[in-house]
Amino acid sequence: MSLNGKRVVLIGGTSGIGFAAAKLAAAEGASVVVASSKQDRVDDAVKQLGGDAEGYRLDVTDEAQISEFFTRVGEFDHLVYTAGDALLMKALAEVTVAEAKAFFDIRYWGAFLSAKHGAPGIRPGGSIVVSSGSVATRPAPGTSVAASSTAAAESLARALAVELGPAVRVNAVRPGPAKTAMWDASVPNAQDIYDTFGPHLLTKRVAEATEVAEAYIYLLNNTFTTGTVLTVDGGHVLV
Ligand SMILES: NC(=O)c1ccc[n+]([C@@H]2O[C@H](COP(=O)([O-])OP(=O)(O)OC[C@H]3O[C@@H](n4cnc5c(N)ncnc54)[C@H](OP(=O)(O)O)[C@@H]3O)[C@@H](O)[C@H]2O)c1
Repeated sequence: MSLNGKRVVLIGGTSGIGFAAAKLAAAEGASVVVASSKQDRVDDAVKQLGGDAEGYRLDVTDEAQISEFFTRVGEFDHLVYTAGDALLMKALAEVTVAEAKAFFDIRYWGAFLSAKHGAPGIRPGGSIVVSSGSVATRPAPGTSVAASSTAAAESLARALAVELGPAVRVNAVRPGPAKTAMWDASVPNAQDIYDTFGPHLLTKRVAEATEVAEAYIYLLNNTFTTGTVLTVDGGHVLV
């Protein structure tokens, strides 16, 4: 299968893994629609993607915006959800419920609402891919919120695969550490994370965003894969 002639909507597709997936989908001949909360990022992504790429400003913490977005987009074939803000890494005793809920608002509820409002516009044979993270199965101290929200996203994919099939397949990607703007927003020096985390992985390095994005493209294309979680983590789960 190829994405040639398909329309792929990527929420969080203006940066990192989502943007890399948008580039790969466009290279296969798909028409891509990227969306995220900052207009400058949307404009920059559309410019870099070129061709018939479309971009919209969308804050996934606002259900009304999600609903309006999908009304505007109309029919399409595949939905990729990679929206995420800075990582929340705090000891249980320090983390507030407000911080935890805000994290879930983007990583989990944004995915849930995007599936809810997006699924009616997905043509039969289409699919949804949501994002997890290796922290779901390999948590470290201070990751209770990230671990639980990513695990929830994986369960969401399984439940929606059962509910939306056979017309729409639903899967999740579980990335390990990858070089993206998420780390720039999360720690003072992202390179320190890559240098210290990388050697502990079986690959002895963290991923490039494109290496993870390839997993999303595989899940969009493979017509017999649904309800699964594809791990692309440099062997993180084994170390
Ligand atoms: N990079 C890693 O090491 C890694 C590892 C495991 C899992 N993941 C997961 O992979 C996914 C993608 O992460 P990434 O590394 O590609 O991050 P990224 O480069 O920071 O991209 C995140 C995207 O989400 C958008 N976004 C943030 N808040 C939003 C909001 N309220 N509404 C709509 N869009 C919003 C951002 O654009 P705006 O700023 O314009 O909103 C951006 O396009 C996330 O779920 C992340 O947790 C990443």
